[in-house]
Amino acid sequence: MNYRHAYHAGNFADVLKHALLALVIEHLKLKPAPFRIIDTHAGIGLYDLGSEAALKTGEWRAGIGRIVDAGLPAEAAAILAPYLAVVREINGPGPLQRYPGSPLIARHLMRATDRLVVNELHPEDHVALAKLFAGDAQTKVLSLDGWTALKSLLPPKERRGVVLVDPAFEEQGELERLAKGLGEAVRRFATGTFLLWYPIKDVKAVAAFRRSIAALELAKVLAVELMIRAPEDAQRLNGAGLIVVNAPYTLEAKLKVLLPVLVRLLAQGEGGKFLLHDLGSGAGALRKHPA
Ligand SMILES: C[S@@+](CC[C@H](N)C(=O)[O-])C[C@H]1O[C@@H](n2cnc3c(N)ncnc32)[C@H](O)[C@@H]1O
Repeated sequence: MNYRHAYHAGNFADVLKHALLALVIEHLKLKPAPFRIIDTHAGIGLYDLGSEAALKTGEWRAGIGRIVDAGLPAEAAAILAPYLAVVREINGPGPLQRYPGSPLIARHLMRATDRLVVNELHPEDHVALAKLFAGDAQTKVLSLDGWTALKSLLPPKERRGVVLVDPAFEEQGELERLAKGLGEAVRRFATGTFLLWYPIKDVKAVAAFRRSIAALELAKVLAVELMIRAPEDAQRLNGAGLIVVNAPYTLEAKLKVLLPVLVRLLAQGEGGKFLLHDLGSGAGALRKHPA
């Protein structure tokens, strides 16, 4: 396990992922019934943008650094408001010094009746995460393998909630694993919203991944992709995507407002664009159960 999110926290891919996570949580809050947020690959939860790791890549400057003080159009600003409120809240006035990971974004947005489960396998990162949430009765911190967590934590007793699956993509075959894991997870928690992050380097591999998600024949599945440049070099992170299962019905309209703004602000050179792919079968909660 070599991947450390501290090098990448706040980059363009985090902006897309965390903005969507915040939108899903805000939608869950529209009903009073409690829900659970499950983060299978959680990281450390809070990142120091002045750390050696963050300074080495400077990735956050081309991510949240371009968003936080941008004069956003009003509609896009309203859509990003819950996410940016957390970023501002943990920084206070003045320049950005810290960036919240998905666990902290979830923790700030959920209500007193909701629950958070955060899981991180890296021993040092797990300790940092456990320290961040020490004494928090609403948050459980685990150190399972994320793929095991995806099975063993589902379904949550609330039968409402969101599951974020955000692997490090260090190993071969992780896209295939993601598709397989999703099929099993939705079988356990068919009413849950799932957010699965994936990197876009080689577009052919990503197209095959999308086909494998569509082959699951889940009813409501959207692939949301943000390209920051034309994918000419398949070794680089040219874009990022999220598979969203059981998205809030309002999400697509919001994304059509937000994504053009993110493309304009986050593109690095020619070829920035966004894509929305409907990968759902549209019939029933889960039309075909994987074998
Ligand atoms: C992309 S980072 C997570 C970032 C976090 N979700 C966020 O948005 O702030 C992926 C994390 O997965 C952890 N990880 C890697 N392999 C894992 C595994 N098999 N099970 C659980 N966590 C794992 C890494 O240590 C890393 O912290």
